[in-house]
Amino acid sequence: MGVSYSLRLLLVDSNPVSHKNLLTMIESQGLSVSSVSSLNEAQERLESEDFELVLFELSDVEKRTRDFISKIFEENPSMIAVGLLNHSDRDLALQSFDLGVYECIPRSIQSSEFERMLVQWVELAELRAQVKLLTQVDRNEHGAPKIIGNSVEMNRIMALIKKIADYKTTCLIEGESGTGKELIAQMIHQSSSRSSEKFIAINCGAIPENLLESELFGYVKGAFTGAEKDRKGIFEEVNHGTLFLDEIGEMPLALQAKILRVLQEDEIRRVGSVASISIDVRIIAASLKDLAQEVKVGRFREDLFYRLNVLPIAIPPLRERKEDIPELVDFFVGKENQKLRMKVRGLDLDAMSAVISYDWPGNVRELENAIERAMILTTEEWIGVEHLPNFVHNVFLHKRRRVTDPDPEEEDTLSIKEKTRTMEIDLISKALEVTKGNRTRAAKILEISHRSLLYKIKEYGLVDVFPASGRPRSFTEE
Ligand SMILES: Nc1ncnc2c1ncn2[C@@H]1O[C@H](COP(=O)(O)OP(=O)(O)OP(=O)(O)O)[C@@H](O)[C@H]1O
Ligand SMILES: [Mg+2]
Repeated sequence: MGVSYSLRLLLVDSNPVSHKNLLTMIESQGLSVSSVSSLNEAQERLESEDFELVLFELSDVEKRTRDFISKIFEENPSMIAVGLLNHSDRDLALQSFDLGVYECIPRSIQSSEFERMLVQWVELAELRAQVKLLTQVDRNEHGAPKIIGNSVEMNRIMALIKKIADYKTTCLIEGESGTGKELIAQMIHQSSSRSSEKFIAINCGAIPENLLESELFGYVKGAFTGAEKDRKGIFEEVNHGTLFLDEIGEMPLALQAKILRVLQEDEIRRVGSVASISIDVRIIAASLKDLAQEVKVGRFREDLFYRLNVLPIAIPPLRERKEDIPELVDFFVGKENQKLRMKVRGLDLDAMSAVISYDWPGNVRELENAIERAMILTTEEWIGVEHLPNFVHNVFLHKRRRVTDPDPEEEDTLSIKEKTRTMEIDLISKALEVTKGNRTRAAKILEISHRSLLYKIKEYGLVDVFPASGRPRSFTEE
């Protein structure tokens, strides 16, 4: 899902030989690790740093060890805690599981075995960290996330959200990467009567099949090797709230069947159990892929597709709703100003024209990143084209050149984009002629916002042709 964090591991071992061994094996896996040789030191580290994984020596379950284990979960309730035993001691291991320890291994474990287990812990820790990250974001924001955009498409989506928020209807959000699928999912949750309950998002494509199943549904003791005690899954965790299944198109077919069952029966079964647990969870799914197409080629279950598709929300790519760009830009500039304690006023007209001309294949996320970068680069009040990434800048120069020296071959183009451009230039010119250059009235006639008219005038290089007031110089007879 591209959550950018690096997993941190804390190693606590007072035995110099095994300490060195374990450290070497962990580092060879490219993990960032802090290592200490006593529980006391470990306690301090836990307080001052964040970890997702802790390997600690476990010689008893006396008070001191118990306190240490509770400290671990106090600092991070989703920590993967692994006990290092001197020799295999089943009773001790079982007692520690009751305290929340995930697994116990002998200190002298073989490196191949250790690496295999480490990979599993890391995958699980990543999944839990993602879930934690998302619930935190949600909690910090108090209330609905801000969704910017006044285009017809966005207004339609916002109206739809309001209408459906309170029903338990399943939604399927489709849209290219970075179009705001997750944001819309959060908005639906926040606008619903479930808003005080949890919102958990998981990326179905990022988690191996067997882990995904047991994390979603939980498991009972003995369900598989390593399942030493019962564990609640995400469905139970998010009960009464909203579960966002991102990239559902990546979900293995077998698991799709199980999700369908949840949707139909409102109940789940933990892995390894026959007992049903009833749950009340709203599911919102998202996909980058065209799921209807995935159904055709047999990679997605048709029945699940129809079940999810009761309420499809298609977020158009940013290039198809360019009128949202100015407002998004202002929003991101404001956000960065706060974050960086800056006082940038915005994009100058050239820069704004450039961001409007560019097609943003990475959509809103790419735009947000470009603004963030520009804010860091600029030392002035206004961001200029020189602060934007090169490709944005180039598209702008290219388009401006084409407006001033029309390409003779353009006459027989079949490109909708080019034709639209020519048509827009033509309509805007006519509107400005009719209104004698009055842009407010022209915008009304054209049925676009005043603001987008200004940007279009600039984008198409009509500024000099149609000065802000007065009769325009002849343009149509170019
Ligand atoms: N309409 C919008 N208003 C404000 N911010 C937006 C909007 N759309 C997207 N964003 C921001 O753009 C970024 C990407 O959005 P989000 O993660 O929801 O997209 P996504 O469709 O889930 O992307 P991906 O498919 O890559 O996971 C986020 O930082 C989000 O806050
Ligand atoms: Mg997403």
